[in-house]
Amino acid sequence: MAVYKKDLQVKRFPLLRKSQDQDHYREIAAKALDNSINHLNFAYSQKLSGAEGAVEFRDEGVYTYDIQGRRYLDCLGGFGIFNVGHRHPRVIDAVKRQLDQVCLHSQELINPWSAHLASQLAELAPGDLQYSFFCNSGTEAVEGAIKLARLYSGKSEIISTKNAYHGVSMGALSATGRDVFRKPFEPLLNGFKHVTFGDIDALAAAITDETAAVILEPIQGEGGINVPAKGYLKAVRKLTAERGILLILDEVQTGMGRTGRMFACEHENVVPDIICLAKALGGGVMPIGAFMASAKIWKVLEPNPSIHNSTFGGNPLACTAASATIEVLCDEHLPARAAVMGNYFMRRLNELKAKYPSMIGDVRGMGLLIGLEFKTAELRQAVQVELFHRGVLVAGTMNSNKTFRIEPPLIITESQIAFMVDTLQSILAEFTQEDIETLSPARKKRAAGAKRARAKGKSPSQTRLAPVKGAKTIKGKSAKADKQSKRIKK
Ligand SMILES: Cc1ncc(COP(=O)(O)O)c(C=O)c1O
Repeated sequence: MAVYKKDLQVKRFPLLRKSQDQDHYREIAAKALDNSINHLNFAYSQKLSGAEGAVEFRDEGVYTYDIQGRRYLDCLGGFGIFNVGHRHPRVIDAVKRQLDQVCLHSQELINPWSAHLASQLAELAPGDLQYSFFCNSGTEAVEGAIKLARLYSGKSEIISTKNAYHGVSMGALSATGRDVFRKPFEPLLNGFKHVTFGDIDALAAAITDETAAVILEPIQGEGGINVPAKGYLKAVRKLTAERGILLILDEVQTGMGRTGRMFACEHENVVPDIICLAKALGGGVMPIGAFMASAKIWKVLEPNPSIHNSTFGGNPLACTAASATIEVLCDEHLPARAAVMGNYFMRRLNELKAKYPSMIGDVRGMGLLIGLEFKTAELRQAVQVELFHRGVLVAGTMNSNKTFRIEPPLIITESQIAFMVDTLQSILAEFTQEDIETLSPARKKRAAGAKRARAKGKSPSQTRLAPVKGAKTIKGKSAKADKQSKRIKK
């Protein structure tokens, strides 16, 4: 039995004040890697940021800073949560004020903040999507949408697509289209089928009398930023309407302005029956998810409104953050900005593709949801690591290991995009095929070393990773990269 001890390490993580002496924070942050390895997951021993002592310190706008003062241009956007930028002042201000009034709701009185957000979303969303259910994540939004589709239709089959990513709870995972996530947890829910994304004939052939719904991402995000051919979404809408089945659009990643319209389905004037939102809805400040549908569909939730419910879903803090986020997205015209900046980004990346055809395989995307596909997964990884060393964050996609995503805050400027592309170009100019070949076995050797250390009962941070405390330099980085990272230090 755990015994409460006064001297136990139970103090909360210290609050940071930029002006204050940061020694206490540094001391605690120095333990971050060991704590991560020993109390979150051993796999942190393989994480690049751990090896580089890149412990998160603060963030603002399009930048994240680590404890050593290094600044990172955020072209990853927290996997798509920072559409309005990091800590947008209007969202922060709204949440701070909300903290002084009501944080979590009583569950009994009318919650005006969730009702207000629902009315805002009804105005914003396409077509007749009028009602919202609020939850805490994208996975939950998908889970709820699947349940609503089954309840409304009285049928159980759901058609999804190969390589889709819809989340990891048992229902959402059943819709997710990649074996590496699915297989270890089978059997999943009955009645899920996966067809090739973009293939309307395959979709038509998969429909049966028992089909309740089709679930799709308008652009597959984790699948590798796969943009379907123009007209696909419209054809899916027509087909599902003709066959009397529901269309669920998962706009968890594509929604809230990311692709150049508020919702990606607007590019094709498609109105889904159910839409799923999350990620950027909370303004990068609070977690919130939602699924929405028309009044006609919502009717099935009327006899027992708590048939699907969530204690934290719709809480005032999250709803206020989302309301302020919608205001910012509209007032600052961020969807349109994403379209303009996305065009510039893609044009510059396509120039790089033309210059380095042996390295870059494809550039694809819409707005500021961009996938850069390399010729090999090793090359993608090597370039990503080097970008990190030079102060630019990007990330791989879950279901496509040759592709990294570029998903910056929509407030990114042309000069910041130019900095990213120039940095990328300088890396590509330096990388040779030989570099890539030597890098790959070296990584394998490091992994084997960590495994041996683990077998001996040592923490890998004691054996091979850069000491976090007081670490001042980036290990294993070229002199040129070092110069660059100094340049971007604040
Ligand atoms: C399209 C899509 N749906 C659902 C999810 C799951 O969202 P969450 O991680 O918030 O549960 C994701 C996450 O990446 C996503 O991209």
